[in-house]
Amino acid sequence: MTGSSQISVRRLTGGVGAEITGADLADIGDGAAFENIHQAFLDHGVLVFRKQRLEPDELVAFSSRFGPLEQHVLKQFALPENPDVFLVSNVKDKGKAVGAIRAGQYWHTDCSYMERPTMASLLYALDVPSHGGDTMFASMVRAYEELSDTMKALLANLRAVHDYTNAYDTFFAKFPDRPPLSEQEKAKVPPVEHPLVRTHPETGYKALFVNPGFTRRIAGLTEEESRAILDFLFKHAQQPHFVYRHIWAAGDLVMWDNRATWHLAVADYPMDERRHLHRTSVAGDKPR
Ligand code: OGA
Ligand code: MN
Repeated sequence: MTGSSQISVRRLTGGVGAEITGADLADIGDGAAFENIHQAFLDHGVLVFRKQRLEPDELVAFSSRFGPLEQHVLKQFALPENPDVFLVSNVKDKGKAVGAIRAGQYWHTDCSYMERPTMASLLYALDVPSHGGDTMFASMVRAYEELSDTMKALLANLRAVHDYTNAYDTFFAKFPDRPPLSEQEKAKVPPVEHPLVRTHPETGYKALFVNPGFTRRIAGLTEEESRAILDFLFKHAQQPHFVYRHIWAAGDLVMWDNRATWHLAVADYPMDERRHLHRTSVAGDKPR
C-alpha cells in the first residue's frame, strides 16, 4: 500500500487532542496524507494514531518529515543502533535501567530548558502495563486564552528562567532511584530565559510557556512574587477542561506540539510490569 491520503480526524476532548485514522505511519507516502496530518497537528496540539507497526528507522523516517531530529542530553538512553530514538522505559537489564526512569512524571514541555526547546515529540508504545501509566496533555493555548486581559497584559513582558536541574531539585529529589545529572551533563544544560507567553510560529496563537518541571522562576520579580504567580498559573493550567488523558495500548503513537501543550506521565502502574516506549524529538526554534 502506498500512503493513502484518506485520513480522518476526530477531536478527543474540548481542550486538546485528536485521533487520526486511516494512516499507516510506516508508509505515509508523498500524497496529501502528510500535509493533512501536519495541519491536524497544528490544529489539535496532540495526535493519537493507533495500531501502528514501526521499526525504529520507520519511526525516525516519519518523525523527520516534521523537521530535523535532535538527541537528548541523557545519551545513555538512546537506542545504540539508532541514536535518534530515545527509550522511555522502566525495563531493567541486569539491574540497570535501560531508559530514563520516572521521565516526565510532572507537568512539563519537553526540553523547555534548552535555548531551542523541542518542537514536537513522538512516543510509540511497544509494551504497556496492564493498567495505568497514562499520559496526560494540557493545552497551553486554551489556558492562556482563559486568563483575563489584565493578567495577559501583566504577563506580556515577563520572562522566565528554565533549568533542567529544577526537576532534579524538586521532583526527582523524592526518588533516589533516578541517578543525578553528571557535571558534564549539567554543563550542557545551563539555565535559559524564555518569554512567559510565546507566540506559535506556525499558528500565530499565544500560549503559556512556563511549566512546573523546568521553570525555576520569573525573571525580575522577588522570589515570593515569582512563586505566587507561577503557582497560580500552574494551578490554572491543569484544569480538566484543558486536558486529554491518553490510555496506552501497544502500537499507539502519540505526538505532541511542545509549543502549545504540557504533558505528564502518570506513575500509577505496577513497576514489575513493562512500560517500554520509543521516542523521537523534532528540533524547535527560539520561543518568541
Ligand atoms: C516524554 C514523556 C511521558 C510518558 O517522553 O517526553 O514525558 O508518559 N513521557 O512516558
Ligand atoms: Mn516529556
